[in-house]
Amino acid sequence: MTAMPKISIGRGVRALMVGLFVGLVTTVAAPTAEAQDDRSNCADCHFANPYTEPAQDHLQEWSRSPHGRNNVGCERCHGGDPATFERLQAHQDVLGGFNPSSPVHRDQLPATCGTCHAGPYVAYQSSRHHALLASGDRRVPVCTTCHGTVGANLLSPAGLERQCASCHGPEGVAPRPGRAEGARLLLDGIADVRESLKAAQRMIERVRDDDRQAAFEEQYQQAEVPLIQARQAGHRFVFDDLEERLATARARTAALLAALVNP
Ligand code: HEC
Ligand code: HEC
Ligand code: HEC
Ligand code: HEC
Ligand code: HEC
Repeated sequence: MTAMPKISIGRGVRALMVGLFVGLVTTVAAPTAEAQDDRSNCADCHFANPYTEPAQDHLQEWSRSPHGRNNVGCERCHGGDPATFERLQAHQDVLGGFNPSSPVHRDQLPATCGTCHAGPYVAYQSSRHHALLASGDRRVPVCTTCHGTVGANLLSPAGLERQCASCHGPEGVAPRPGRAEGARLLLDGIADVRESLKAAQRMIERVRDDDRQAAFEEQYQQAEVPLIQARQAGHRFVFDDLEERLATARARTAALLAALVNP
């Protein structure tokens, strides 16, 4: 978390230096490993021109997100040529998000994210929402509904419930409040079990005896499997399955923590 602002400032400053003091940069700033790996010029130019370019919040979110941290550049979602610093050339096949052919338009978005995240995409494709999206209903939830535009953050459980209730609440097109509630359960429940598992992991790391540690690791994995399955059920919007898996994950995690506390 503390590294977040550093990344964006670093990028902005680096880009400014490239722009203003091309000669100086090589002698002043020793490039870091991260900078050498990062071959996308999109972000550098966008950070260097914060007042003339759109979507500043989006840039900040990107630099904090798992994508920014793992050098998943702008072009991976927007298209364009990341190798050049020429704006027109870089933007050659970049379309605005409102254009239905843009890879970040709602119609295309699940497939765009799905090029790298096949599991969630395949699961999503089996849902009614996907069919509705394909038939032109653009209000249904897509990946960014829950993950934000750059996959940086999960919506708050209550916020998501409200969003789903716009269709599944009493006044909505497909009223069934259990569905909106199911979304809250998904986020709350998963976050909860994940926190407990993290606590367990820290305790396992401190176990001195190798055999006991290995046994606990095994138990940890047994608890994590149903959590991963719950996540998959969530991406399919099959909440019965989700609840069942989550309950199993919760019970196994509780048993693991109990064993760690009372050896
Ligand atoms: C040399 C600077 C520069 C580079 C390099 C650059 N951009 Fe831009 N970008 C801009 C500016 C300035 C704007 C706003 C004016 C415009 O649309 O041209 C912009 C606008 C955009 C928009 C909004 C387009 C719209 O129609 O609403 C997107 C999306 C975008 N850039 C993505 C990218 C991607 C992806 C790359 C890399 C492949 C990239 N940019 C490279 C400067 C740059
Ligand atoms: C993980 C995918 C992803 C990445 C990576 C990403 N974006 Fe976006 N971007 C989106 C989505 C989704 C939208 C929202 C489109 C909409 O308004 O529906 C968006 C919107 C935008 C917009 C607003 C204008 C438009 O086209 O709608 C700009 C400008 C933009 N992004 C630039 C960038 C830049 C610059 C980077 C790199 C620093 C970047 N994006 C990285 C997915 C991404
Ligand atoms: C070019 C490949 C690529 C694209 C396109 C892409 N991602 Fe990612 N995504 C990654 C990588 C790499 C990571 C970081 C490594 C990891 O956690 O798997 C990541 C991480 C994530 C994470 C965090 C995963 C975790 O385990 O914490 C989420 C959530 C996510 N992406 C959602 C999205 C969404 C939503 C979109 C579309 C808007 C998208 N991604 C588009 C490559 C991509
Ligand atoms: C209804 C909300 C919701 C929607 C819609 C959604 N996700 Fe997720 N996603 C989640 C939750 C909750 C998690 C689990 C987070 C955790 O484990 O802490 C998750 C986890 C992930 C992860 C990391 C773990 C994994 O399974 O790989 C990725 C990547 C991801 N989602 C991508 C996507 C993509 C791509 C889409 C669209 C096809 C999508 N998500 C749609 C809620 C959603
Ligand atoms: C724009 C309207 C709309 C929004 C927003 C919406 N849904 Fe739906 N959803 C529908 C429609 C329409 C159906 C299909 C008709 C039905 O099953 O009653 C559906 C079906 C479902 C189903 C049944 C499973 C399936 O694939 O058949 C679940 C579960 C569900 N939605 C959950 C959610 C959740 C969770 C959210 C919020 C992340 C959400 N919905 C947001 C319109 C919406």
